[in-house]
Parts: sequence; structure tokens; C-alpha cells
Amino acid sequence: MALLLLLVVWLLQLIDTSHPAPSSSGFHYHDIMNGNGNGEIYFNGVQLHVETIATTITATQGSNVTLPCRYFYQPYLIAKRKTRVKWSRLPSNGGPDTDVLVAIGHHHRSYGEFKGRVHLRKDSEGDVSLIITDLRLLDTGKYRCEVIDGLEDESSTVELELRGVVFPYQPKEGRYKFSFEMSVQACEEQDATIATFDQLYSAWEEGLDWCNAGWLADGSVQYPITMPREPCGGINMAPGVRSYGIRHKQEEFYDVFCFSSFIRGNIYYLHHPQKLNFTEAKMACEQEGAHIAKVGQLYAAWKFHSLDRCDAGWLGDGSLRYPIVFPRANCGPLEPGVRTFGFPDKNQKHGVYCYKMT
Ligand SMILES: *[C@@H]1O[C@H](CO)[C@@H](O)[C@H](O)[C@H]1NC(C)=O
Ligand SMILES: *[C@@H]1O[C@H](CO)[C@@H](O)[C@H](O)[C@H]1NC(C)=O
Repeated sequence: MALLLLLVVWLLQLIDTSHPAPSSSGFHYHDIMNGNGNGEIYFNGVQLHVETIATTITATQGSNVTLPCRYFYQPYLIAKRKTRVKWSRLPSNGGPDTDVLVAIGHHHRSYGEFKGRVHLRKDSEGDVSLIITDLRLLDTGKYRCEVIDGLEDESSTVELELRGVVFPYQPKEGRYKFSFEMSVQACEEQDATIATFDQLYSAWEEGLDWCNAGWLADGSVQYPITMPREPCGGINMAPGVRSYGIRHKQEEFYDVFCFSSFIRGNIYYLHHPQKLNFTEAKMACEQEGAHIAKVGQLYAAWKFHSLDRCDAGWLGDGSLRYPIVFPRANCGPLEPGVRTFGFPDKNQKHGVYCYKMT
């Protein structure tokens, strides 16, 4: 034993002087105890590499996604080695890492929200790509693929983004009424999640312009401006996402930016002989075996199903909206978008948008 330890120390010294510092993409693995099963012992550093290939993967809600990751040794090792693979998620709002999956040999275990929804692909040698089925809005974030061999480990990360649509939301009571917690809940009630900064930023790049500040998932309050103007931070500031920074979650009140993704099912304007008040509208959808649509569902239909309809309709929160993909006369501004008419009196008569699961 003492002799072995001496050998280790000697080897480490040897490696120290004869090799440059390990590169950031790998580490030097000194195989003393394990051998390779053929009775050979490597006296040279064997390097374990872990690669995620892509840096960002984009997918839609409800789909299955593969986060690519593979590992290999340099120089090549013929013998199979026992490794442990661990996938974890680093949430976009900066919260703690969470375990997604741990695999040892043929056994694997998944955790929390990922239970039963994740497995390794194992298409080829060293393939430890993670397959996530039935993607959810809250699955976005950075994923770390970690391979552990003996005492050493190496990892690489890949970002998972959902294709979606960001929309500003305020309640019936008007502007700046949401604490942070209320914001999170308001988005959930619209079949959406509170948007991350990256999601708002992408929306701004695609042209979102909104002059009211809203909460984001990280607890900051920001607003996207593509056309600088006096009431929205002044005309001297460049276009951009403007930030009020991190705000007090209980004591400050703003609007919120919600994020909605592809939704399976059908969202449609109900063909009905008469216009309906809010109560009648809800019942009319239910008579069809459907539900009155939520705001996030209407945005998703506009974005992913190109729902285009120049008729204002009731939605589940009591607001009145319509989606326009091809702007035209008498259907609002020159840009595509979901037109919003606030929360009218519930006795008013209008159309309605329904959502039917398929
Ligand atoms: C995702 O994978 C599961 C299980 O492999 C399969 O049943 C399901 O049809 C797939 N979903 C999609 C949208 O491809
Ligand atoms: C809507 O119409 C129904 C009758 O169809 C009526 O009972 C109800 O009071 C009306 N208003 C609202 C806000 O529900």
C-alpha cells in the first residue's frame, strides 16, 4: 500500500513537470488503481473529455428533446470503464442546481419534476445524451452533463430554450398592481410562466415594445423599447431592454411579462349566432366540450398556429382581445400582434375564443 502511494506521488510529480496545465475541456486522469481490465496500467495521463456539441437547443412545449452529450478518453481506451453520469439543471433565475438524472451502468434514476420524463439516449459508445419527453415551460435553463470516473469528473453545459412568445400582462385593476408572487401566479393562470430575461430579450429583438415595467423570473423589473420616445425613458436613450434592477418582491408593484409556448389543441373563435356577455361566452365554449381560452393560449395560437381573426372575443380572465397575423385596415396597428381592449363590463356582448384539447 505504502509502495502504491509512493508510486502515485511520484506519478503526480512526473505529470506535473512533464505536462502543461490541463486544458479547460478535459482533465488528466491517472490510472493507477483501476487498470483497464487487460492488466495494463497507464503511466501516461489519460484524458477524459465531455462534450455537449451544441450550446443551445431550442424546442417547443409538449415535444421531446435531446440534449446531446458524449464522453471519450484520450488516448482511446479499449476496455469499458465504470462511469457515473449525472445531469443537473441550473435554473435561469439563478436558483440552486437541481438533480435531473443519475446513471450508473444500466441503472438510472430521475428526480423531482423530471421523474419518469428523462432517460439517456446511449446510441453509441460514450453517448450520454439526455432525452426529455413532454417538455414543460419550466424546463428551460442550463443543463450540466457530468461524467464521473473514479475520483475525477468532467462536465459540459448546454442551454435549453423553449420557442415561445412573451406578452405583458396586467390585471383588471390596471397598471402596476402585481407583487412578484402575484406575477408568478397571474402568468400561471394564463397557462404561461413568468418570463426570464433571455426570453424578454429575444422578444425585444423580434420587436416587442412595451412602455410599462414588468417583473421577470429573476426578480428584476424591466421593459423592452424598440422605438425610443419621451414617456418611455426619453428619446435620447438607445432602443433596448431597460431595467429598474432587482426590486423588493413584496413591497413593490408592477406589471409582469409572461411566457407562453406551443400548446397542443385547438384555439378558435367560436361561431355563434349571437354576441355574448361574459357568462354566456364561458357557457358557449363549455357546450362545445371546450373551455374559454386563456391569454397565454391565445398568444400561443397567434404565434404557432398563425391564428388571425379580426373579431374581439372574451377570454377566461374577462379581457377582450383578438389576434392579427396579417395587419389590415380596421384591425389595429400596422404590426402583427394580439390586440387588447382591457377588461370591459361583463354585460357587454362580444364573441369568444375557446380552447379545446385534442
Ligand atoms: C415523446 O416520446 C414518447 C415516449 O418515447 C412518445 O410516446 C411520444 O409520442 C413522443 N412525443 C412526441 C411529441 O414526439
Ligand atoms: C349575461 O346574460 C345572462 C342571460 O343570458 C344573464 O343572466 C346575466 O346576468 C348576464 N350578465 C352577466 C354579467 O352574466
